[in-house]
Amino acid sequence: MLVLGIETSCDETGVALYDSERGLLAHALFSQIDMHADYGGVVPELASRDHVRKLLPLCDEVLAEAGCSRQDLDAVAYTAGPGLIGALMVGGSVAHALALALDIPVLGVHHMEGHLLAPMLEDQPPAFPFVALLVSGGHTQLVRVDGIGQYALLGESVDDAAGEAFDKTAKMLGLDYPGGPRVAKLAEQGREGCYTFPRPMTDRPGLDFSFSGLKTYTLNTINDAKAAGALDDQVRADIALAFETAVVETLTIKCRRALEASGCKRLVVAGGVSANKRLRHGLETMVKRLRAEVFYARPEFCTDNGAMIAYAGCQRLMAGQRDGDRIIAVPRWPM
Ligand code: KG4
Ligand code: ZN
Repeated sequence: MLVLGIETSCDETGVALYDSERGLLAHALFSQIDMHADYGGVVPELASRDHVRKLLPLCDEVLAEAGCSRQDLDAVAYTAGPGLIGALMVGGSVAHALALALDIPVLGVHHMEGHLLAPMLEDQPPAFPFVALLVSGGHTQLVRVDGIGQYALLGESVDDAAGEAFDKTAKMLGLDYPGGPRVAKLAEQGREGCYTFPRPMTDRPGLDFSFSGLKTYTLNTINDAKAAGALDDQVRADIALAFETAVVETLTIKCRRALEASGCKRLVVAGGVSANKRLRHGLETMVKRLRAEVFYARPEFCTDNGAMIAYAGCQRLMAGQRDGDRIIAVPRWPM
């Protein structure tokens, strides 16, 4: 089964071809980051227009790279939500138009299911069941995964997502969008122990998260340093390190609890923040103590991409699922 996957939920146009027998054949990504950077964040209307410009050329590019033609496709999968409504509509419209013209099935995929399954594209994929930490710009969730489509929510953020907290902290520190990688880079110059930030909601049982208080704490720390005339590059880096360490420790503590409570020995970490090196290091140390294992996607498949959608769509197709002829675009959609 050859499936074309289309991702257009936010600011990356991602396209990929996944074959149920041969695996991932080709993938391509166009990132709009440079365009949105001037505005300090994603401008939804500009995102939709750019998806319109880039999507079909990218589809042709991956088909050519894999030596396939449109007629070889068995199905088209696209991100149906959650995401920006206009951006989702572009992917959904193109997917449905292709499927209609080729008379093949079309499947709308949940964006977070795509992230969750992205580590399955690696050489040594995790076996079921596992606990998944989904950490992106819009979500922070712990999920127990017993199989494709069998997901039980264990905990989630009651306010900001971890990626969102990284992005907002970056802005406060005068760094460009997207903030996560930039905060991480600045933190490399930070000195340990200069600041200690809170680890929200770790002092009580449960698997929920909260990152909005940490954001306020960061803002207050920056303002205090500014008022004292001490906010130089070194202090900025110290604050970035203290923030990153607090997020990493908080996520690590909750993952440990989820593994212990569920009895699972496998942890999967997915979504943009899973590219964070300090997080990976913290989780690896933790799972070693529990004699458990941690799995990630390769860095380019941690953030938004078409490969995860092609893979998730292929799994659903093989499970006999098909959508009707209505385009699905759901901006807010719990998994
Ligand atoms: O999964 P993703 O590409 O898009 C969403 O579905 O949201 O995640 C993007 C988020 C952004 O908040 C970005 O700042 C964050 O992931 N991110 C990182 C890193 N790389 C991306 N956060 C921390 N460290 C990183 N290395
Ligand atoms: Zn995403």
